[in-house]
Amino acid sequence: MFKIENLDVFRGETQVLWGVGLEVAPGERVAILGSNGAGKSSLMAAITGLLRPRRGNIIFNDRALVGLKPYQITQLGIALVPEGRRVYKGMSVRENLEMGAFVRRGRPRLKESIERVFGLFPILGQRSAQGAGTLSGGEQQMLAIGRALMSLPDLLLIDELSLGLAPRVTKEIYAALASLGSEITVILVEQNVELALRHSERAYIVESGRVTGHGVSTELIDDPDIRRAYLGM
Ligand SMILES: Nc1ncnc2c1ncn2[C@@H]1O[C@H](COP(=O)(O)OP(=O)(O)O)[C@@H](O)[C@H]1O
Ligand SMILES: [Mg+2]
Repeated sequence: MFKIENLDVFRGETQVLWGVGLEVAPGERVAILGSNGAGKSSLMAAITGLLRPRRGNIIFNDRALVGLKPYQITQLGIALVPEGRRVYKGMSVRENLEMGAFVRRGRPRLKESIERVFGLFPILGQRSAQGAGTLSGGEQQMLAIGRALMSLPDLLLIDELSLGLAPRVTKEIYAALASLGSEITVILVEQNVELALRHSERAYIVESGRVTGHGVSTELIDDPDIRRAYLGM
């Protein structure tokens, strides 16, 4: 369903990804692990058309994505929850969600999609008229996820879900995502390796712009090298 082959990505003159490859099956939850600066966000930017890879392929449902514009990629069914959430702070919660349905794909089911987001995150329903800038960090993350869901994605990318959030809120957001079941394929970027492995079926490890390992999440949690390198055990 989703496949990346041999991807080289540059930021200016600096290469940030080297021959990256990965595969995600429909309905799967796959984590991308790696420390700060490893290239995770650059990978998300390449998938969503914000950075154009210099080499390699990104294939989604048999379509080649390299060279497409971000809106075309959204239209094909891929949505990104960016690192740092980036909600429109001057707009209300509801307006933020409406913006997410701006692509053709999301528009016909706007009302239904808003209700679905409010079902997933009830606090957003209670605060629908409130300015997004008045929300807590956790609520802004819920809104950023809600906004991404408004384009009715088949593949949802979430960059740094838990960064800066209290454990209780993080747990609530992961529970909401779990309730979506296998209806949406999820690629989850996390610096918190333990959280990522607990909430994914498989994971890829990115170090200095390269995929250095991958495996089944429950096995990686028990891997002595992973535990030493990432879990401090
Ligand atoms: N906007 C940018 N301009 C130039 N270099 C960047 C930019 N964003 C990130 N980088 C560099 O690209 C590399 C990969 O960063 P990034 O993809 O943000 O990693 P991660 O998301 O894993 O922390 C790092 O060396 C980082 O310093
Ligand atoms: Mg990042």
